[in-house]
Amino acid sequence: MEEINVHTSKNYKIFFSNVRDKLQNLIDEYGIKDIYLITDKNIYNLYANEFSYFKGIKGLYIINPGEENKNKDTVFDIYNDMLSKDCNRKTSIVSLGGGVVGDIAGFVASTFMRGLKFINIPTTLMAQCDSSVGGKNGFDFNGYKNIIGTFYQPEFVFVDTNFIHTISCQDYKNGLAEIIKYGFIYDDTFFDYIDANKEQIKKRNEDVINTMVYRSLKIKSDIVCMDEHDNGIRQILNFGHTIGHGIESASNFSIKHGEAVAAGMLIESYLSLKCSLLSTHEFKRLLDIINYFEMPTYFDDMNEKSIMKSMLKDKKRNDSKINFILPERIGSAIITDKLSQNTVEDILIKWVGKKLW
Ligand SMILES: NC(=O)c1ccc[n+]([C@@H]2O[C@H](COP(=O)([O-])OP(=O)(O)OC[C@H]3O[C@@H](n4cnc5c(N)ncnc54)[C@H](O)[C@@H]3O)[C@@H](O)[C@H]2O)c1
Repeated sequence: MEEINVHTSKNYKIFFSNVRDKLQNLIDEYGIKDIYLITDKNIYNLYANEFSYFKGIKGLYIINPGEENKNKDTVFDIYNDMLSKDCNRKTSIVSLGGGVVGDIAGFVASTFMRGLKFINIPTTLMAQCDSSVGGKNGFDFNGYKNIIGTFYQPEFVFVDTNFIHTISCQDYKNGLAEIIKYGFIYDDTFFDYIDANKEQIKKRNEDVINTMVYRSLKIKSDIVCMDEHDNGIRQILNFGHTIGHGIESASNFSIKHGEAVAAGMLIESYLSLKCSLLSTHEFKRLLDIINYFEMPTYFDDMNEKSIMKSMLKDKKRNDSKINFILPERIGSAIITDKLSQNTVEDILIKWVGKKLW
């Protein structure tokens, strides 16, 4: 079984294997008992049979799918349900789902009785290549994305890429946006790999998916090991997210995270181009790959003022300044708070008018 070691305040492993063959062994090996399983309705409908692989389930909570349910009501409802089922400090939380389930389950695990064991089994490309590793969790509140949350590392992460066969085309593209991000800001050879294999990626070739997920998680864990609490280099993973979160919030979360990030990466790269960091050729390579995967790069009914407002309120705000991650070439990016609001707003006005590229 392939694995990646993540060295943070708590060391843990990411296992790559098949739920049917290996999961129960690991659960036994780690002494996990009294499982409280959190999943969502779509996964439950598709994979109810797989649930028999979890022996000793103490409770099962099924979230209604969607970002709109990543909120305090869901969290408090889970606490209530756990109390009614006599969950205690020996209970372990298992998340089986995408980023929404994982973020909620991780938060519950970190807060219920001051912290329970947590196992993350990601089932979307987004969760497998990104959100399941690094320890960030949380929920949206009062229109702010991920504004309440903690850092809390799991016992282990179990990645079974067979889950990817059933995700929707839109959710597949959402995950691809994060995968492209890793190559573009951190590893030019990985970006070249994505570019060279784009046809197979579109066809969901199993080997290519396995490679992409593994390489993305390797990059993410290397970065998280250097800066677990997001005070330095980890911030480069926010490439595309500063504006992306602004777009998501301004759309009242009707635009999906990955779609907003793809557009955010292009706008932030355009800013980098205007700052004479990124070359036109490199910007064009990003644009071409995003277009190849048919990710939306513009949205209707966008308003630059509401995007700016959301960004200014975003938790990544640094005093009165906003941090931007600007790629300087493929495979490398800088963190800066030197962009003026006017510069950003000018670019957003052009983007809202669909006139940026
Ligand atoms: N904590 C982090 O570090 C981090 C990083 C990136 C993103 N996120 C968060 O992740 C969330 C987005 O995650 P997501 O894209 O996985 O969204 P999601 O969890 O909403 O899942 C997308 C959809 O796919 C369905 N689904 C899940 N697994 C499936 C499967 N195997 N087959 C068929 N359908 C399946 C879900 O029911 C849902 O409808 C956002 O809230 C974002 O903020 C967190």
